[in-house]
Amino acid sequence: MVYNRSMERIFSGKKALVIGGTGGIGKAVALRLGARGARVFIQGGSSPERLEGTVKVIRDAGGEAEGFLCDAALPESAADILGRVPSPDILVCAWGPYKRAALDELSARDWLFLTVNNLALPGILISSVLGDMIRKKWGRILLFGGTNTDTIRGFSTTAAYSAAKTALGVVAKSVALTAGPHGVSCNVVCPGLTDTEYTGEDAGNYNRERSPGGIPLNSSEIADLAVQILEHSPVNGAIIPIDRGLKL
Ligand SMILES: NC(=O)c1ccc[n+]([C@@H]2O[C@H](COP(=O)([O-])OP(=O)(O)OC[C@H]3O[C@@H](n4cnc5c(N)ncnc54)[C@H](OP(=O)(O)O)[C@@H]3O)[C@@H](O)[C@H]2O)c1
Repeated sequence: MVYNRSMERIFSGKKALVIGGTGGIGKAVALRLGARGARVFIQGGSSPERLEGTVKVIRDAGGEAEGFLCDAALPESAADILGRVPSPDILVCAWGPYKRAALDELSARDWLFLTVNNLALPGILISSVLGDMIRKKWGRILLFGGTNTDTIRGFSTTAAYSAAKTALGVVAKSVALTAGPHGVSCNVVCPGLTDTEYTGEDAGNYNRERSPGGIPLNSSEIADLAVQILEHSPVNGAIIPIDRGLKL
């Protein structure tokens, strides 16, 4: 459920930045933040239609939203994003590119692309916004891990992606350690195999074959729980699988 009249607008007066907020799980989180009263700034990759559609849904429901497109993979992107949305109270890093390939098939370019965008980009954004959150004595950061990256494991076909995603747990626990006493929380949600509008036929089949009961998750299920975690400040430095118990 995205919104109902009885839902408390607990994020009223807060500015939320959602990286990758125009589609998939990020969009589902952005809609829920808007419904809970946050002024939502949505970053999307390349699709103006998805960006406009997401902003419209939030505004039509009585929320406040604006957005912009930028390729977050570029070196100057983090500074560009925070130039547009300085000092957010809530930071959600949803975009997380993925590549399936055996370890000995990953190129240098793959390693850099996957680790920079799944680990360094959230890290750079956090380092840039954390000081203001601490000064305001309030901040919420939500990161997305990968499937089964809640603890150190080996992965036969997603080593670079999963290594970067697993390391996000260290980032979240470091934020909790240093900024938790100042009212800032940071948690990592690790979704199970989740069908979104980006899921193609092959990935959809894979998700069905591997998911417990043959039922992949959907973006709403992930976002409902993720936003509850954002609401509860005592949850801090946690790495939380939402995966119906899936083991890959
Ligand atoms: N789906 C799953 O099964 C699954 C499982 C485990 C973990 N996760 C993690 O959950 C998070 C969300 O995943 P998701 O599957 O919903 O979608 P996603 O593909 O990670 O994110 C989609 C969003 O990112 C934007 N985007 C795409 N390329 C971009 C770029 N170069 N720069 C900036 N933004 C870009 C998209 O905008 P456009 O629409 O304009 O391209 C859209 O807003 C990710 O961190 C992912 O690793 C997903």
